[in-house]
Amino acid sequence: CGIVGYIGTQQAAPLLGEGLARLEHRGYDSAGMAVLGSSGIRVHKRAGRVRDLVDGLPKRFGGKVGIGHTRWATHGPANDTNAHPHTDSDGRVAVVHNGIIDNAGALREELSDAGVELASDTDTEVLAHLIARSEADTLERKVADALARVQGTYGLAVVHADFPDQVVAARNGSPLLVGVGEKEMYVASDLAAIVRHTTTVAHLEDGEMATVTAGGFTTYRLDASGLAAAPRHAKQLDVDPDAYDAGEHDSFMHKEMLEQPTAAARVISGRLDERFGTGHLGGLNLDARELRAIRRVKILGCGSAYYVGQMGATLIEDLARVPADAEPASEFRYRNPIVDPDTLYVAVSQSGETIDTLLAVQEVRRKGGRVIGLVNVVGSAIAREVDGGIYLHAGPEVAVASTKALTNSFLAFAMLAVQLGRVRDLSIADGRRLIAGLQALPDQVGKILAGEDELATTAQRLAEAESLFFVGRVRGFPVAREGAQKFKEISYRHAEAYQTSELKHGPLALISPEVPTVAIVPDDELVERNVAALHEIAARGGPLVVVTHEGVDLGGLSCERIVVPANERELDPILLTIPLQLLAYHAALHLGHDIDKPRNLAKSVTVE
Ligand code: G6P
Repeated sequence: CGIVGYIGTQQAAPLLGEGLARLEHRGYDSAGMAVLGSSGIRVHKRAGRVRDLVDGLPKRFGGKVGIGHTRWATHGPANDTNAHPHTDSDGRVAVVHNGIIDNAGALREELSDAGVELASDTDTEVLAHLIARSEADTLERKVADALARVQGTYGLAVVHADFPDQVVAARNGSPLLVGVGEKEMYVASDLAAIVRHTTTVAHLEDGEMATVTAGGFTTYRLDASGLAAAPRHAKQLDVDPDAYDAGEHDSFMHKEMLEQPTAAARVISGRLDERFGTGHLGGLNLDARELRAIRRVKILGCGSAYYVGQMGATLIEDLARVPADAEPASEFRYRNPIVDPDTLYVAVSQSGETIDTLLAVQEVRRKGGRVIGLVNVVGSAIAREVDGGIYLHAGPEVAVASTKALTNSFLAFAMLAVQLGRVRDLSIADGRRLIAGLQALPDQVGKILAGEDELATTAQRLAEAESLFFVGRVRGFPVAREGAQKFKEISYRHAEAYQTSELKHGPLALISPEVPTVAIVPDDELVERNVAALHEIAARGGPLVVVTHEGVDLGGLSCERIVVPANERELDPILLTIPLQLLAYHAALHLGHDIDKPRNLAKSVTVE
């Protein structure tokens, strides 16, 4: 979900609309805004997209103070009533909220018993009623009173008709920042919302609140005894606002895919040591002795971050010969994991906000484990929680389907694996071989992207199928998983990843002329076994698209062949992944889907 707030000299509604459009990738099943004008608070909200909300704005919706929200539904279906902002019964308080109030059920009951009529099914609404019922004399104290009753996570912004010259914001587990303009101020859950207006911001920490007026802001810390002053200063961030626009591209996904060669060059820049054939990852905060003491690596992430974690585990086992595996962060935390001091935990997250990953990091730390982060967003919650890490430097990623951040995660794993390997058994020659491979990789990514038009035709054919398989083995299996994930996310076709070797133990039963298979067949030690399995598919009439290297002998197989440049075997997985991004993208484009905002999903899931 996304939050934006404004207070200043301009009309709030158009600015809120613009901010919401820039936040829409965070949730897009409903949206709304509340504006505080001379006649009190007016709310306009509805299910559907921000565009519809803005098009439907009432004529008289004036006011220079306001808050807005775009929602990814958790409690209650995505309808007009459950959209934010939520108000108290008299419409004098309006609240927008990201996160989850865990004790909302009990609070709703308590409010009902006290005669309050609840209008929505949401957890957020209780906040509006609690704030309205507080007898404190300032808005920040009323909000603090309400928050004292609440368990859960929140980033929130509040306006109150009795305090027409302020917006109060509070943060606990869900990001929030205050943006400083010229005689105007903003509140936002993400810089993207306000980047066209200001890049001078103060990030709130968990447990902090801010009272924001047109002329400035005051921050507090919320503790057991109430509100304590906790001054915070805004800082000018060094960001390029153009990075938050799709420019000439039809979608952010397209822009972000094509940015991969430059993004990839950025993540390796200054981090490769050619002379000693190793990585130079200062942010790990681990010296050679500590790196050598690592007995195991456990990688945690969700969605694409988990699949690239699987690629990373193979890299680490191959190059450093340290046992490594990846697990969905969401599962790890709930199975009472054994946290071992000799294990290095690695959290992978583009946003640095995914709550499942953040909570897994906290669980590891609580039990004394050491965690590093592979994170794209600088200063995000996971980046702040870990003991060290590798920033991905991919630049802002807006499309829900992750492309450049995933590629850079792979490269970060490769550098980590080489560095871990070089303090163990990896020879200097092998280290140099991989460093050279990494240096060549950004251009090779560019070459694959240049073949986009040809891939588009293949993608259009695949898009016609209701159901597809993506298959690969060992290094190729996480590639297949990521390929299937991308395809299903944005084309809504059923795409299932399987180990090529396991096909004959079940899924072969589903192969038919209607079910195509995309097979990952690198030129490696498994090539003959892979090709044999593809013949078994062809013999059952299954159409095949084979992603492979130049010169691989497919033994007369009838199929479409997508050839990627070869690198070092260990680094091939990411090059084999790039065409799968293009296939998913062109399939979705052909089917007329919203590429950047696939149904039911959101870019960062900040609730469990
Ligand atoms: C969501 C998105 C996925 C993404 C995952 C992890 O589920 O839909 O595309 O891979 O979050 O996001 P993160 O920001 O932690 O990498």
